[in-house]
Amino acid sequence: MLPRIYNKREDIDTSRLRAFAEINLTNFKHNIEVISNMLDEDCEIVGVVKANAYGHGAVEVASYFEGIGIKHFAVACISEGIELREGGIKNEIIVLGYTPVCQKEELIKYDLTQTLINESYAKKLSNIKGIVKGHIKLNTGMNRLGETKEHLEKIKNMYELKNINITGIFSHLSRADSDLEEDIIFTRKQIDKFNYIIDELKLDNIELGEVHLQNSYGIVKYRGIHLDLARPGIILYGVSCDPCDKILANLPKNEKLKPVMSLRCKVAMVKEVEEGETIGYGNNFTVNEPMRIATVTLGYADGFSRAVSKKDCKVLVHGQFGRIIGNVCMDQMMIDISNIDDVKEGDIVTIFGQDGDNYLPVNQVSELSGTITNETLSCIGNRVKRVYHF
Ligand SMILES: Cc1ncc(COP(=O)(O)O)c(C=O)c1O
Repeated sequence: MLPRIYNKREDIDTSRLRAFAEINLTNFKHNIEVISNMLDEDCEIVGVVKANAYGHGAVEVASYFEGIGIKHFAVACISEGIELREGGIKNEIIVLGYTPVCQKEELIKYDLTQTLINESYAKKLSNIKGIVKGHIKLNTGMNRLGETKEHLEKIKNMYELKNINITGIFSHLSRADSDLEEDIIFTRKQIDKFNYIIDELKLDNIELGEVHLQNSYGIVKYRGIHLDLARPGIILYGVSCDPCDKILANLPKNEKLKPVMSLRCKVAMVKEVEEGETIGYGNNFTVNEPMRIATVTLGYADGFSRAVSKKDCKVLVHGQFGRIIGNVCMDQMMIDISNIDDVKEGDIVTIFGQDGDNYLPVNQVSELSGTITNETLSCIGNRVKRVYHF
């Protein structure tokens, strides 16, 4: 059953929540509209909802997307596809990653479209009885999965396999998010290689199925690619991939994306500490003047990176900035609230998102932990309750 969707953020009953991610569905809709406007009118969006929809809740997000007209979804693995089907998703679901061929029956049962990672895999899959849908993967430079342009015959052969219904063909851009000259040249080469293969197949009058290439930054930066589908991931969620990236920030006003998730937890306890005391595990933080601290209900087992320890990572309480001190523990962490008045047990702490007049982007956590926002979001764990609102 889908969770309750609150009409507005303020209506959310947070009283029983320990750590929670607020998901703003209105911002999702806005991002979909912005992304659609970046694409050809007849190019459809594949909602990339792998890794629990980048931490936002796969079934809930896909259900919402399906309700606003999204006709295709992509997941990483068969179990994610099954989860969506069991959650009531009716539209196309592409499994982007490897599925052992012994699971062909389940692919068929759940009407999943399997990525054909190369010819030899496709042959093995075809040798098992039953007809499964497949999208052929082309390797245009990433060297992760797919057949290269040097193996045109193998690509053509896949269209002939009797137990696979080929409904699409695609590749993936591996450097589209970079503004470096060499990466732009590389991406253009990937696009050229892709077009070359598609043109060669068309010369043979092969029914290609749905043709798709662009991921988020492929959509944002490489406009005017006229294909059937595009596969945005991170931009659906309204944030940049590299936390320091300025590409999204520099988009014109009508193309600005809106972050969908805010991450919050609670104050468990407030206490005064004296000079010379230490905070948390290890001898990581020594108090050098009397301060007020709060213990809060989020830790690395919630998917919040321990690597932000010792980095003065900011948080918000009552709309004012505090900072994480000491090592992040498995389930809790301590914050400095010396400059914030009247903090008490049960108050909400914002890790990223809006609180009062202040806003903390997810980028801070990703930057301080030395990763990309995709990882920060997709690692948010099961103990963090997702709450949906308009
Ligand atoms: C094959 C494929 N397509 C699309 C995406 C979405 O990528 P992004 O989040 O950069 O839009 C991914 C994510 O890694 C992917 O692996």
